[in-house]
Formats: sequence, C-alpha cells, structure tokens
Amino acid sequence: MKIVMVGAGYVGLVSGACFADFGHDVICVDRDESKLELLKLGKMPIYEPGLEALVERNVSQDRLRFSNDLASAVAGADVVFIAVGTPSRRGDGHADLSYVHGVAEEVGRALNGFTVVVTKSTVPVGTGDAVERIIAEANPEAQFAVVSNPEFLREGSAIEDFKRPDRVVIGTEDDRARAAMSELYRPLSLNASPIFFTSRRTAELTKYAANAFLAMKITFINEIADLCEQLDADVQDVARGIGMDGRIGSKFLHAGPGYGGSCFPKDTLALVKTAQDAECPVRLIETTVSINEQRKRSMGRKIIKACGGSVRGKKIAIFGLTFKPNTDDMRDAPSISIIQALQDAGAHIAAYDPVGMESAGGLLTDVAFADGIYEAAEDADAVAIVTEWDEFRSLDLQRLKSLMKTPIMVDLRNIYNSDEVIRGGFSYVGVGRAK
Ligand code: UGA
Repeated sequence: MKIVMVGAGYVGLVSGACFADFGHDVICVDRDESKLELLKLGKMPIYEPGLEALVERNVSQDRLRFSNDLASAVAGADVVFIAVGTPSRRGDGHADLSYVHGVAEEVGRALNGFTVVVTKSTVPVGTGDAVERIIAEANPEAQFAVVSNPEFLREGSAIEDFKRPDRVVIGTEDDRARAAMSELYRPLSLNASPIFFTSRRTAELTKYAANAFLAMKITFINEIADLCEQLDADVQDVARGIGMDGRIGSKFLHAGPGYGGSCFPKDTLALVKTAQDAECPVRLIETTVSINEQRKRSMGRKIIKACGGSVRGKKIAIFGLTFKPNTDDMRDAPSISIIQALQDAGAHIAAYDPVGMESAGGLLTDVAFADGIYEAAEDADAVAIVTEWDEFRSLDLQRLKSLMKTPIMVDLRNIYNSDEVIRGGFSYVGVGRAK
C-alpha cells in the first residue's frame, strides 16, 4: 500500500519506518528542511535505539522516502497519516490542534481518489469530526474517510512496541476504511497482535484513558512509597505482592521521582480540560496531575534531607537528566524541577547524562555538565540517581566513594540494593524502602 506520514517526529518517523519494514511504500513528509536533510543523510533527528538501521535499510530498498512536497505525496496515497505534534496550548492546558487542522486542510486540497486519512497524533475526542469537516470544506469533491488510530509506543523501545503491540486500536464507522486499515496492519495480525475496531470518538478517548490510567498507576505506587517510608515497609515488595494479582498487573509499579516526558503530563492535563468542558470532571486524574507536579520538587527536598537538612554551598552530582533512559528527551523531565529545588536551596549542581546533555543545556542554568559519572562525582557532597540508565547500574562504589567529599547516595529509581551500597561505606536513601 502507498502510505504518507505527515510529520517526521517521534511517532511519524518510527511508524513510517516500521510500515516500510512491513513492505509498504512510505513517504514521510515534513516541512522542516533541516530535519529532512539530516534524514536524507541517514542521520536521525532523535535518539531511538535501532531507528537509524531501520531507516537505512528501508531507504536503501526504496520503500521509505522523505519529502517536503505534501501535495504530490498525498495525491498518490492510499492512506495518509497525520502524525504532527499536539502540544499543550499556552495558558489553558488544552491540546493545541493548530498543526493537525493545518495539515488536514493541506491534505484535503491534495486528495485524489478514495483515501483514508488517519489521525495518529494524540487528539481530543471530536478531532476526527473536525478533520472531516476541514477536508470536506477544502475539497468538496474529495472521497475520503477519517480514522482514529492512536499510537501506544514508548520512547526508548518504540520499534519493538510498534512491531509487537499489545493491541492496535482503530476507530472508524466506514467499511472501506476498515478494510484498508486491516490490510495495512495485516503483518501485525499475523503476529497475533489483536486489531481492535471501535468508533472514532471511542478510539480517541481510549488513548487518553490509557495514558491517564498508567499515570495514575505510577502516582499510586509513588504515594504508597511515601507511606512505606513512614511505616518502615518496602515498596518494591508491595509492588511485587500486588502485581502478581492479574487484575492489577506488575507493570508501571516502579516508584520514582514522578512521571515526565512528552505524553503523560500533557495528555493527563488535556483529559482534565476535556472533562471539565464536558461538565464531567475526572477527579482521580485531576489529583494525579497535582500530586505528580508536587512530587518532582519534593524529590529535591528528599535529597536535601539526605544531606542533613542543608545543601547550601554543597555540590550535588546528578546522574541522569532525561525523563527516562534510552532517549535524549528532556520534556517535563523530573530532573528539571529537582535541580531547580536544589539550586534554590543554594546547591551547586554537576550533572552527567549519557545522551541528554545537549537537550538539557537549553533548559538548565548554572549546571556543570561532566564528561562521565566519576567526573561529575568529584568532591560531591552527594550523588542522586535521577534516571535509571544502564551504565549507572554497576558503579564502582569504592572509586565513587574515594572521589566524593561525603559518600551519600540518593537513588530515586531504586536501582541499587541498599545493603550493598551501605556495605560500600555510603549512606543510602532510596524511594519507599525500609530503613
Ligand atoms: C507513554 C506510554 O507508556 C506509551 O504507551 C504512549 O504511547 C506514550 O506515552 C505516548 O502517549 O506517546 P513514554 O512517555 O515514552 O510512553 O514513556 P513511559 O515508559 O510510559 O514513561 C513515562 C514516565 O513514567 C517516565 O518518566 C518514567 O520514568 C515514568 N514511570 C514509568 C515511572 O515512574 N514508573 C513506572 O513504573 C513506569
């Protein structure tokens, strides 16, 4: 099938490359010339394990191309995906749909023959209806159907998530679109991934409900972690104990510094706004949003407490800046609020992140970026592990201790066994762990 992916961002680029790998003919369209230049040179604008090789393979086999010419690409397409950004709108927290609407109009003008137009961007309920209206107005003769097909991939494991999803959700009431989408995803159904058809509005809401539920699950275990600290219980064992119940499930129960990233913070807020507008508030999600916001800063206070109540004039080494490992994405990363809280309390910050330092540079001020873990830890009064990158999992504790002024480790991702670190001569503070 001939596919056009409008928007070569995270979702568009990964999905486009994966569809090409399934044997479809894919053109990724973006108006950002510098991004297209990079891609044509085989360089990736984002850090995502495996993506470069996947793109290279499909470009060399002529199944994947990049272009800024939306009109010609769309004219020859069977399926056009809209995968542009839907950031939080300044001021009110609603999803900003201006890119989606702009692309819908351009696509509408270029349609030629029956085409399925699919929104892959995370969009509020009713956006499919708006896209349909915009296309019909731009091109009253157009033959098309608008489908919602939200994406559930995670940064850092995006290709695996795309190719082996728990499910694919497709929202459409149109038979021709249903047939086209079944054909498109046939390689996945052969892999036994369920393709779930529902109405367009339901599919749109399903995406928000999924992200909100996961955000709530994380927030739940984070609150239980705080309680564990007060009651001398261990949150990892609690998580294991409840996760073995199939009704609860063991995933997304890692206590930590609060969720960040380009999706959960933005999508939970957008769902809250949608629900308020519908006069049907989602109070669990409202509370989740506010607990998570407070949590990020409170992690700064946790580090201060571990340092004896004051960090004025002290040097704190931060290991990990990105919102999670295997990405260079700094959007809404807990490290930003944590560093801010420490700096407000008078601390000097040295930081190291395997790939995120370039993107962090524009967001953080007065931070000394180090070339490695041990360089960051030199003369430090404490180290704080903020992101669970693999290279932080096997630190040479003796070397680390010998470099530091005081051996204090705050492990906000619980990647260490406390006994081991304490035996190494450190004072250790994790999240939700028994003393
Ligand atoms: C999330 C969803 O997991 C994807 O299914 C979805 O497609 C994506 O948003 C999106 O809407 O595009 P992502 O933001 O890439 O994916 O990352 P996650 O792995 O979900 O992590 C989000 C945040 O939650 C991170 O800050 C992570 O550290 C935190 N987290 C996750 C925890 O604190 N504890 C956990 O147990 C799991």
